[in-house]
Amino acid sequence: MASSTLVESSRPQASPALDPSTLSNYSNFSIAQTDLSYNINWASKTLHGLVRYSVDKTGSADKFVLDSSFLDIHSARVNGEDAKFELSDRIEPLGAALTVTPASGLSTKNTLEIEFSTTDKCTAIQWLNKEQTAGQKAPYLFSQCQAIHARSLFPCFDTPSVKSKYNFTLQSLYPALSSGNVASESDRTPEPLPNAPEGSQVFRFVQHMPIPSYLVCIASGDLDSANIGPRSQVYTEPSKLDACKWEFEADTENIIQAAEKVVFPYEWKTYNVLVLPPSFPYGGMENPNITFATPTLISGDRENVHVIAHELAHSWSGNLVTNCSWEHFWLNEGWTVYLERRILGALHGEEHRHFHAIIGWKDLENAMVSLGDNFEKYSKLVVNLQGHQDPDDAFSTVPYEKGFNFLFYLENLVGGKAEFDPFIPYYFGKFKGKSLDSYQFKDTLYEFFSNKKALLDSIDWDSWYFNSGLPPKPKFDTTIADECYDLANRWVASATIKSQEELHKEFSAKDIASWTSTQSVVFLDSVADGFEKLSGSTSVAASALNEIYSFGSSHNPEVISRWYRLAIGAQLESQYALLAKWLGTVGRMKFVRPGFKLLNKVDRPLALKVFEQNRSFYHPICRAMVVKDLGL
Ligand code: BES
Ligand code: ZN
Repeated sequence: MASSTLVESSRPQASPALDPSTLSNYSNFSIAQTDLSYNINWASKTLHGLVRYSVDKTGSADKFVLDSSFLDIHSARVNGEDAKFELSDRIEPLGAALTVTPASGLSTKNTLEIEFSTTDKCTAIQWLNKEQTAGQKAPYLFSQCQAIHARSLFPCFDTPSVKSKYNFTLQSLYPALSSGNVASESDRTPEPLPNAPEGSQVFRFVQHMPIPSYLVCIASGDLDSANIGPRSQVYTEPSKLDACKWEFEADTENIIQAAEKVVFPYEWKTYNVLVLPPSFPYGGMENPNITFATPTLISGDRENVHVIAHELAHSWSGNLVTNCSWEHFWLNEGWTVYLERRILGALHGEEHRHFHAIIGWKDLENAMVSLGDNFEKYSKLVVNLQGHQDPDDAFSTVPYEKGFNFLFYLENLVGGKAEFDPFIPYYFGKFKGKSLDSYQFKDTLYEFFSNKKALLDSIDWDSWYFNSGLPPKPKFDTTIADECYDLANRWVASATIKSQEELHKEFSAKDIASWTSTQSVVFLDSVADGFEKLSGSTSVAASALNEIYSFGSSHNPEVISRWYRLAIGAQLESQYALLAKWLGTVGRMKFVRPGFKLLNKVDRPLALKVFEQNRSFYHPICRAMVVKDLGL
């Protein structure tokens, strides 16, 4: 095979590559320490903040240029002196550059202090009224900074290439959390800011490990906590606490120990989970020490813990070793899916790792279709975000599953797990505390497997990194999936030729009685695909299928969402209103966006009506994406 010409000709002069998604001059500086303080002002729904950077000058810049987005800047000081500051015009979607010019120039070591407030346009925070919470006792707020929303929470070098240790001091009327461990007496956290609303309490957190801005988080509300393991607690509203504890307590510590065996010991001390209200737009977010999780994980059957395995795995892939820009996002997510499945394999057996990989492959196939006009651009492993592309637009299953498949391919290429395994701690050890690009990944593979150079030369690096579309399909162990495929095939064969009664005779609830919800997912996807290829109407069969297996009333959103895909595809009109109702209860984009796309296809007026009714329920990021999806 040809040597990797494209990869080599596109290699940046210095590694890691520069980040196109920041307006800051970050490459001139390195941050030794960041102190961030907030007063939470519930009445005005704003945060009043002070950020203090200890920053070393490593380049030639004579001023600071930081990212900001919809922030009010009150003052800036450099080395104790008032400094001139200026906000440039906004450049969508990157925000407004904040330039701070020191009165007396910059030294090698500097302090930069900026006082600011968030505004009602803040894209990083969702504020909930108390009526929008489970307990209805207190209002609630939570942040979501990945990918480029940290700049709307505080002025920062908003790039995953810059890392810092942090101290956080929050003042709130209600319990508050942030990206770190609870500070101890000996930790030097910043003084609380003056003028906190009366009755506020002080909450202090410390992050001893250097982290990028996108991992900064804050949440506050009527929160309580319970143990889910020796180093783990779950936080949530009091009325949900028992259910959350039950969901996670059997698996969390086992997951951590399984991950430690694959990589190396967990270095962040505690691993906690915050279960958020339903409008949280993701399944999970790997905020350090405090994974943020959707309440759709609390299904009462412990069948969504793979999301915990995923977010925990980010403690190595993403949080210790970080993509240098969102163009190399697969290094975060592909590695994390790879580790997630290694954890599942270690806990439940290798065939389960393969089973999850099969689901992932199916998701990848579907993603290729959903990308639509963005297929060429965003189905590559390494994407191009030059020219103010929005990382939220580039987001899809591709970096997750193409990334996983690349690593799985490499694992097999070098001779299987036993050969590949020593590379894992080597890679994470080498880049720990750092950020890297895909070129450095390639170099590290060559470095580690120097005795297998010929084998690595056989990799079609150009195609893996820069070709659109599906990669070569690997051979998966289909032991668990086969049962699902067999039943699906029988449904597809009967769908257009058998009556309702005949279907009820042929199939029964017993068919799936022993299944996990993940098996139902594989079954539903397979039936939906099969039905799509049939020429006759499949609505009778879809209806019978739901009568027999009751997928529509499942407690697991992975199952419900697949059921609606099948039902809408079969034009089962009775389900349109039910889908509409369900869309008013889930805020996780993975379900909301495809749900609206489906409904829009069969009943646009209904889709628009439901969106309008639930506008304020959805998170700002989710709202913006659905607006785009519906062409509003
Ligand atoms: N880091 C992501 C979530 C994310 C990605 C937020 C990009 C914003 C921008 C998180 O780790 C994730 O991948 N969550 C998945 C979990 C799943 C793959 C198990 C999700 O939300 O569905
Ligand atoms: Zn992830």
